[in-house]
Order: sequence, then structure tokens, then C-alpha cells
Amino acid sequence: MITILGIESSCDDTAAAVIQDGVLLSNVISSQKVHESYGGVVPELASRAHQQNIIPVVDQALKKAGIQKEDLSAIAFTRGPGLMGSLLVGTSFAKGLSTALDIPMVDVNHLHGHVLAHFIKEDKDDNHQPQFPFLCLLVSGGNSQIILVKSYKEMEIIGQTIDDAAGEAFDKCAKVMGLGYPGGPVVDRLAKEGDPSKFKLNKPHVPGYDYSFSGLKTSFLYLLRDELKKDPDFVDKNKEDLCASLQKTIIDVLMEQLRRAAKDLNIKEVAVAGGVSANSGLRAAFEDHAKRFGWKIHIPPFGYTTDNAAMIAITGYYKYLDNEFCAVDAAPYSRVVM
Ligand code: KG4
Repeated sequence: MITILGIESSCDDTAAAVIQDGVLLSNVISSQKVHESYGGVVPELASRAHQQNIIPVVDQALKKAGIQKEDLSAIAFTRGPGLMGSLLVGTSFAKGLSTALDIPMVDVNHLHGHVLAHFIKEDKDDNHQPQFPFLCLLVSGGNSQIILVKSYKEMEIIGQTIDDAAGEAFDKCAKVMGLGYPGGPVVDRLAKEGDPSKFKLNKPHVPGYDYSFSGLKTSFLYLLRDELKKDPDFVDKNKEDLCASLQKTIIDVLMEQLRRAAKDLNIKEVAVAGGVSANSGLRAAFEDHAKRFGWKIHIPPFGYTTDNAAMIAITGYYKYLDNEFCAVDAAPYSRVVM
């Protein structure tokens, strides 16, 4: 029996999870509320909160899994990318615990974790996992990528954003509408009441499978600036239509490149991952593509869309099977190319 403790602390969620032979036993997350009033994550505050949360979160994950720390085979932790201070908390904790228990450590690339979240089994008969090779659209606050996933460890980024990420476009446009942070979920909610064809926003023309969202963000800003000059209540009166139009444009852009990649590579197995995969419009677009193009789609349960440790534990599990351990002097990295 292989039992892996996963630890995630790359941004503003302190999380721990236990996976046994690929099956999830526990998944605990402590999200930090302290950042909301600042309109974004404050790195120093994030590190301090991780420091406070990490022991209780790991303790709870072990208790919920019904195991003792002595039952662990290895500790998997997010080594990067992320905020350095945040990563240091999880990394140092993993080092301390693995040394004390005399078990190996497995370092995990956070982005691989998002992709491999699709392999988490909720019970041992769960066999919904994607077949290799498949395409994964990874869309979060920091990334927008199309990844060709050839195996558990062979992943090739075939397209990525050349400027802002999709989540950033949601968040920044929401911020100028005064919708708070993170704005993505608010835009999603308001968009349901709005008309997506009301406002025309600029779509980028990027060659290959790359993305760009900064032009769209600027065109949204200019639209608000011009309309607010005519009517100071413009945003209030049009919030729903603005959100629906913004969301539709972002999704159209995401799906256009993904569709082309799937067609060119003749791949029909397509997954989505990352925080923005919680978006109801994007989920509906995937369902629609499954019907229209015969795609076999993989949409993660909501709990695995945003940062979590279950995805770190499952990635650690597959690395463990390959004897891919890391040394005790492994340092976290804030940026990475896959
Ligand atoms: O993967 P994630 O939790 O971590 C980061 O990369 O930071 O993604 C967070 C991003 C944020 O930009 C947030 O606004 C976006 O995911 N997000 C959403 C939705 N839920 C979260 N964007 C659109 N619609 C949603 N329902």
C-alpha cells in the first residue's frame, strides 16, 4: 500500500491531502480571507498565514484519512511555481516531517498537479480518468496554456498566453467594475443574467495556439471609460450584460485555439483544469464541443479546480511509482517552464 501526504502552499491556500494507492482519503484546505480587503494576494500576509495554518491542516488531513503519520510512504509538496515565501513554508515543513519520519520527499510542479488532478480516484472503482495522449486547457489566475499530455510525466506546452492569463482578464475587468477580488466567480454569477451579445470586445489574432488577453482587457477599459463619460451609472445599469459579454469573449478566445489544436493533432480527448475551469460558461462550452465535435471531455469536480493538495498528492503518487524522489536540499522555485 502506498500512502502519500500532499502539501500545497504556493499562493493563498494552505492545503493537505492523503492519497492511498491513487484513491483520495482526505482533502483539507484553509483559504486565506485576509487578502480580500486588499484586492489581491499580499505575499507577506500569505506566508504568515501558511505558517499558522500548516500544522493544523496537515493534522486534520491525517485524522480525516484515519491514518497515523507513521503510515505515510512519502511526502509530496509543491516546489513551484508560486510565491517564494508561501512555497518556503510548505517546502520546509515537508523537509522537516520527511526527515523526522525517515521517508522520501517528492517535489511537485504545481502546474503538473492541476493537469493530473484528473487522475484522482474518489474510490477504487472510479475509472473516469483520461486516456493518453490528451489535450488539457489549463486556465488559472497565472496561466493559460494548452498542454499536450503524453503520459503522467511527459507534458508539452503547445500554446500559452503571451501576456495576461484568462483568470487575470476576469479579475482585472471585474476590478474596474468594482466587483471585488477575485472577480472571476462574480462575473460568472452576473453573466447568467446578462446578454452576451450586448457589447463587442476586441478578440486577439495570435498565430499558432498561443493566447493574448491584454488587448481584450484594454478594449474593456476603453468601453467603460467612454460610456462612463456619457452616463456615470453605466456600469451599475449594465453590469450583467458587461459580465456576459466579457465572459463570452474570453471563452470564445479560449475555445478557438483549443479547437484548432484538437483538430490539427487529431485528438478528441480534451480536459480542462485550473481555477477558471470552475466557470459555468466554459463548462457549457466544453459540453457543447463534446456534442459538436465528438470530444470526450474531462471537467474536474469543483473542489479540484482551484488550488488543492489532492492534486499534489496524486502527482506525488505517480512520481513515487517511478522512484522520482527529491533531495533534502531541494529549493523552491517561483517561476517555471514545464
Ligand atoms: O487556479 P487558481 O485557483 O489559482 C491561481 O492561479 O491563482 O485560479 C484562480 C483564478 C482567479 O483568477 C479566479 O478569478 C478564477 O480562477 N476563477 C474563475 C471562476 N472561479 C475562479 N473565473 C471565472 N469564473 C469562475 N467561476
